[in-house]
Amino acid sequence: MSALRLSAVRLALVVAAFTACSSVAWAAGEPVTFAKDVAPILQEKCQACHRADSIAPMSLVTYEETRPWARAIKSRVVSRQMPPWDIDKTVGIKHFANDSSLSDEQIDTIARWVDAGAPLGNPTDMPKAREWPKTNVWNYAAQFGPPDLVITSPKFAMGANSQDAWYRPVTDTGVEEARWVRAIEIRPTTLKGRKITHHAVARLRQDDGFDDAAARATRGSDAAGTPGLFMEWAVGKQGEIARPNTGKLLMPGSKIVWDIHYHAIGEAITDSVEMAIYFYPKGQEPKYRQVLGQFDAITGGRQNLDIPPNSIAVHQAFHVMKQAGRIENFQPHMHFRGKAMSMEAILPDGTVQMLSHASFTFNWHLNYIYAEDDAPLLPKGTVLRITAWHDNTAGNKNNPDPNQWVGWGDRTVDEMAHAWVNVTYMSDEDYDKEFAARKAKLTAKASSAALR
Ligand code: HEC
Repeated sequence: MSALRLSAVRLALVVAAFTACSSVAWAAGEPVTFAKDVAPILQEKCQACHRADSIAPMSLVTYEETRPWARAIKSRVVSRQMPPWDIDKTVGIKHFANDSSLSDEQIDTIARWVDAGAPLGNPTDMPKAREWPKTNVWNYAAQFGPPDLVITSPKFAMGANSQDAWYRPVTDTGVEEARWVRAIEIRPTTLKGRKITHHAVARLRQDDGFDDAAARATRGSDAAGTPGLFMEWAVGKQGEIARPNTGKLLMPGSKIVWDIHYHAIGEAITDSVEMAIYFYPKGQEPKYRQVLGQFDAITGGRQNLDIPPNSIAVHQAFHVMKQAGRIENFQPHMHFRGKAMSMEAILPDGTVQMLSHASFTFNWHLNYIYAEDDAPLLPKGTVLRITAWHDNTAGNKNNPDPNQWVGWGDRTVDEMAHAWVNVTYMSDEDYDKEFAARKAKLTAKASSAALR
C-alpha cells in the first residue's frame, strides 16, 4: 500500500516536473504557426497593402497566398524594409498615431516561423478575416451626413508598362465663401485605380491673406506661394477628422494642386482621385486653425541647395515659431537623392530636443503623425531646425546618375529638401493650459504604471 502511495506521489512529482519542463521549452522554442501567431500580425501590419485591390504586388491574406513568400517576408521584415516605416526609433518622439511598424517581438515571431518551415498549424486557430472600410462609400458620411463638397482630379491614363508618373493637375474648389473644414476623405475613384495609385497628395492653393501671423510664421520667404498640404491618400489612410475645435480654412477662389504618383502594373488603367470635404456648420468657427507649413532645410533660398556629384550633402535651416504651437506631424520631402531628415526644437532657454529623425526612400512618402499625448507642445520663440541629407553617390540605389551635380527643382531628378509639418498655433495662455493638462495626464499615467 505504502509503496503504491509512494509511487503515486512520485508519479505526481514526475508529472509536475515534466509539465514545468515543457512549459519552459514552450516559452523558449514555442512552435510558431501561421494560424495562431503570424496571421494576426499580417492582418494588423501588412494587409492594408497586401490584399486584393490594394497596391502591393501580392496578397498576404490566406496561408496558401503567403507560404510561397515566406523567405522574402523574413528578409524584408528583418531588414525593416517592410512595412515601410523609416523613423529612427532610438531618438526623439516614440509614439505615433499611425505607426505601422513591427515590434521587435513581431519580427522575431515572423523570423522563427519562417525558420521552422513556415507551418500552417491548427486551422482552427486562424483569426477571423479582417474587415476593411468600404471602398466605394464615403465612410464619414455616417457621422457627418453626405460630404458638402467632392473634388475630383482629371483622369489619368496609365499604360500597362510605363515608368512611374507624377501627375500634377490643378482643380478649382468652387468654394464661394470661407468655410471651416472638419473632415476630409480621399481615395482613388475606382478599385483598379488603387493598384496604380502609389500615393496622392492634395495641396491647397489660396490667398488666405498674409496678415495671418501663424501662416506667415511658417512660410519661409522662399516658400511664398507654395500651397499647403490639404489632404493625402496613402494606403491604410482614408481620411482625417480634425481634432476638437480645430479646422482648416478653405477660402473663395481656392484651388487644389494634385500630386499623384502612379505606377504601372502590367494592365492599362485610367483613373482619378476624389476627395470629400465635410464643413463645420455655417457660423461655427473652430478655435484653432491648423496650418500646414513647408519647413525648408535650405538656408538663404532654394538656389543654395548644392549637391555635388559623388558626395553626401547636408543642408540645414532654422524657423522661428512666432506663436506657441503643437507640432502634429513630420513628413520629410525629398527626391531620388534623399537620404535622411531630422527636425529638432531649440527651446527659448537654449535646450535642444530631437523631435524626429527618419531615413528617406523616395518610393515612400511617409508621414509620421505624433500620438495625441506625444505631439510636441512648443512655446513661442522656439526654433525648429530642419536638417536634410542627400546621397548623390553610387551607393544610393535610387540615384539615376551620381556624376551629375544636382540643385533644386520640380523634376524628380532635381532635388528638394523640406518637411511638411502641420502646426496648431495657439495663444500663450492656451499654450500654458495645454501644457498643464499634458503634465497632469503624464503624471497620472506614470503613477498608474507604478501601481501596476
Ligand atoms: C504601405 C503598404 C505596405 C505595407 C503596410 C506592407 N507592404 Fe510589403 N510591399 C508593398 C509594396 C508596394 C511592395 C512592392 C514594392 C517594393 O518591393 O517595395 C511590397 C513588397 C513586399 C515584399 C517583396 C515582394 C517581392 O516581390 O519580392 C515582401 C516580402 C513584403 N512586401 C512583405 C510585407 C510584409 C510581411 C508586410 C507586413 C509585415 C508588408 N509587406 C507591409 C507595400 C506594403
